[in-house]
Formats: sequence, C-alpha cells, structure tokens
Amino acid sequence: MSEDDNKAVIRGLRGVAAATTKTGFVDPLGALYYSGYDIDDLVDRATYEEVVYLLLNNRLPTQTELNNLKSELFSAMKLPKPVVQRIQSASTTCHPMEILRTEVSHLGEFDPEPDDTSDAANKRRAIRIIAKVPTIISFLYRTRINQDAVVPVKEYTFAENFLYMFRGRPADQQEKDAMERYMILHADHGLNASTFAARVTAGTGSDLYSAVTSAVGTLKGSFHGGASERVMSMLYEINSLGEVEEYIQSMLDDKKKIMGFGHRVYKSEDPRSKHLKELAERLCHQKDTLDIYNKCKKIEDTVHNKKGIFPNVDFYAALVMHALGVPKEFFTSFFAASRVTGWVAHTLEQYADAVLIRPTSEYVGEYGRKYVPIEKRS
Ligand code: COA
Repeated sequence: MSEDDNKAVIRGLRGVAAATTKTGFVDPLGALYYSGYDIDDLVDRATYEEVVYLLLNNRLPTQTELNNLKSELFSAMKLPKPVVQRIQSASTTCHPMEILRTEVSHLGEFDPEPDDTSDAANKRRAIRIIAKVPTIISFLYRTRINQDAVVPVKEYTFAENFLYMFRGRPADQQEKDAMERYMILHADHGLNASTFAARVTAGTGSDLYSAVTSAVGTLKGSFHGGASERVMSMLYEINSLGEVEEYIQSMLDDKKKIMGFGHRVYKSEDPRSKHLKELAERLCHQKDTLDIYNKCKKIEDTVHNKKGIFPNVDFYAALVMHALGVPKEFFTSFFAASRVTGWVAHTLEQYADAVLIRPTSEYVGEYGRKYVPIEKRS
C-alpha cells in the first residue's frame, strides 16, 4: 500500500513533468532553447548578460535595458564584509562548493530589502545573487593561493570580469570568447536536479537565498555538476592514448559510470557538447596542449563505440576549464556561477505558480510492529 494507492512509483521521476516553464526547453532529440531561442544561435551571437536578461524576463533586452542590467550587475558584485571575513577564515581543505553553499546562504543576512517579497524585489534580489556568486568563488580562490582580491573592471563583460577576478590577469580574446560561451551554455537546462531543488524550496514559500542554497548543494553531486571534476581526474588517470581502450573497458566491466557521458533526457548528442568541444580544441591548440584534447576525442569515440552514449555538457567543459587555468576543484563552482541564472529564473516562475511540490512515496517497510522497551531489546 502506498501513501497514495493510485500511483505507481516513478523512480527518479524519470519522464515526469513536474512544473511548467517558459525558461528553458530541453528537447530530447538534441536541442536546447532559452525562452524560445536556440542556444546554437545564442552562443554565437548573444552575450551572457543578454541571456541573463532573457531568462529573467522572457525576452531579449533593448540596448538601454541591457546597459541598465550591466550596471546593476557591476554594482552588486561587491560582497558584504562578514561574507569576506567568513571566506578568509573558512577551512582550507573543504570543497569550494561547500563554501559557496554556505556563503550564498550567508548573503541572505545582508539583503537590503528583506521584507519585500514582491516580484520586483525578487528580481532585484536575483540580479544581486547572480552578481555575487563569481565574486565569492574568485575571492575564495585568491584567498587559498594567498593573493589579494582583484577588483572588477567596469568596461569588462561579466564573464571576462569573473575570469579576471579569479585568475588576477586579463583574459586574451580567445579566453574571453570561451568564457562567455561557457557561461551562456551553462545558464539554464530545464528542470535539471539543482533547478528542481530550487523550485521545491521556493514552492514552500521560502526565500530566494534558500532556493539557491538548495541548488548549490544539489549541483555539487558527481551525477550532476560535479561530473566535470571527475572527468578531469579520469584524464589524469589515463596516461596515454594507448591506455584509453583498456581504462574504459575496465570501468564498464566494473559497472562504473564514465563521468561526462550519458544523460537523463538527451538520448542523442547533448547540443551543448559540440560547442564546448570546439572551444576546447581552440584553447588547446592555442596553448599547445592538443595531447589532452586528443585523449578526450579518443575517450569519446571509445565510449560511444562500446556503450552507444554521448558526452554531456560536463565532458568538454572540463577541458575548457582546464585550458582556462581553473583548478579542478573549482570546476563545479564555475558551473554554479552560470547556472545560478537558471535557478533564479525558475524560482521566480515557481513563486508565480505558488504551488507546494510534494510528491508521495511508496511505503515498503513493515507494518504492525510493537514497541519494545530498550532493556528488553536484544
Ligand atoms: N557510463 C557508463 N554507462 C552509462 C553512463 C555512463 N556515464 N550513463 C548511462 N549509462 C548506461 C546505463 O548504465 C544504462 O545501461 P544499461 O541499459 O546497460 O543498464 C544506459 O546507459 C542508459 O542509462 P540511462 O538510464 O539513460 O541513464 P540515467 O538517466 O539513469 O542516468 C546520468 C543519467 C547522467 C545520471 C548518467 O548518464 C551518469 O551517471 N553519467 C555520468 C555522470 C555525469 O556525467 N553526469 C552529468 C550529467 S549532465
């Protein structure tokens, strides 16, 4: 008997439509749209800031609206002092996503308009959160490598500033282009696990910081955003092209998942993957590290031949991050800094829908057990 007798369990909610959205459409046939625009088009022509505007407002901005958004983002990048201090005193060994999760939550304490839960206030709050996430990540990294924080430059794009604040040196044209595209490609992806977590939190009527905190914690897992870090570990473990075949075969024999491959929705190619592959190839060519790119291609072919599955967003994203000089343990936080736009856009949709998300479960435990006092238990 289940909580709701009429429902069979749909494990992992596979194929269940749990919300409506005008934000991202993930077409299982291998396409992705943001508010109706094909990402193939956006990635070549839009800026990340335009995509932020699009996802929050469901339409592309005019020039004035875009300028205003850029100013709002720029002026909101600074962190409250207690957040800075907490990052400085954070454990040096824990994962960056753990610190990001804590500090997103911490930001809630310093919201300048805490009692205003209107749509307009939530949109302003959303922009402030989007603006601050890259600063948290960059400042954490600078602190860990004993370097000063880097102040963003007004003339830079948002993506360019993120890379600048993180690495402490301006990006060249190729790097700027890669970072912009990386952020566009990661901005939204329908009701993926972290976005779902954000919507579940928002569905209870909780605040935007809580929703994003839930999402950060969910993205961290290795079956979701954490996969790209594991991809990099695999690339380090495989020493040469000659070892690829045996490595993949032994993973499959052991029934282990190859990180960066497979997808719950796409059963053909992930539409983001081809763009990331192209970016990875260009960056590796520029940095004379084509060996690692060739290793990736060989892994892609081998996994496809053996298992019929394709790389997902995390496979070549790992290589893009690596080529941009981002250390492996920060990969997932870069994903978070881009996906936060999708999280807040969906959270605003959830507030508008105002429904509690509360599925049922099938009880498979025992019935009718009698309480036994502790001294009588064996
Ligand atoms: N490595 C090896 N085999 C994989 C695989 C992977 N990465 N992804 C899927 N498969 C296999 C499954 O084991 C299954 O095989 P079977 O039919 O022989 O049992 C088959 O492909 C179909 O899997 P599917 O049911 O479509 O996967 P899922 O929806 O349960 O899982 C993921 C989707 C993303 C969790 C899964 O592909 C995975 O764990 N990938 C690695 C982690 C990753 O890259 N995550 C980022 C996702 S964007």
